[in-house]
Amino acid sequence: MLTQESISRKDFLKSIGLGGPALMAVLASCTNANSSVTPSGVSIDITTTIKSVGEYTYSSGVIIARISAGSTAASFVALSKSCTHEGTTVTYQGNGVFYCPNHGAQFSTTGSVTRGPANSSLSKYTVTVTGSILTIA
Ligand code: FES
Repeated sequence: MLTQESISRKDFLKSIGLGGPALMAVLASCTNANSSVTPSGVSIDITTTIKSVGEYTYSSGVIIARISAGSTAASFVALSKSCTHEGTTVTYQGNGVFYCPNHGAQFSTTGSVTRGPANSSLSKYTVTVTGSILTIA
C-alpha cells in the first residue's frame, strides 16, 4: 500500500485513473514554485537593515542577504525567496548558502541549486547601492 510519504504526484494521478494525454495535461499545468517575481520599488537602508554579514530580509518576494562586509553591491545578494521545489520561503544560512527549511534544498549566491530536491535555480536580481540605499532591479 502506498503511503502519503511514498507516493509521487505522477503515481497518485495514475492511481486515480489519469494516464496518457490526460496525465500529461495535468502535469503540464502543475508548475514548480519557480514563479518569477518582478520586484519593484525595493529600497532598503543598509545602515538600518541587514547591517551585519549574514543578516537577511525579505521584500516584494525577494530575499536580500548581506554576504560580505562593505557597502557596495557586491556585498549583497538578492534572490527570489520562494524555493523552486514547493515554494517555501528560503533563508540565508551564511557562507553563501541559501536554505529551504521544508525539504533541505540549498542554493548558492547565484541562485543555482547546490542540494536538492529543488531542481531549478532561484531567480537572481541586480542589486544597486547608492549611498546607504540598496535597490533591486
Ligand atoms: S519546498 Fe524547498 S526543498 Fe521542498
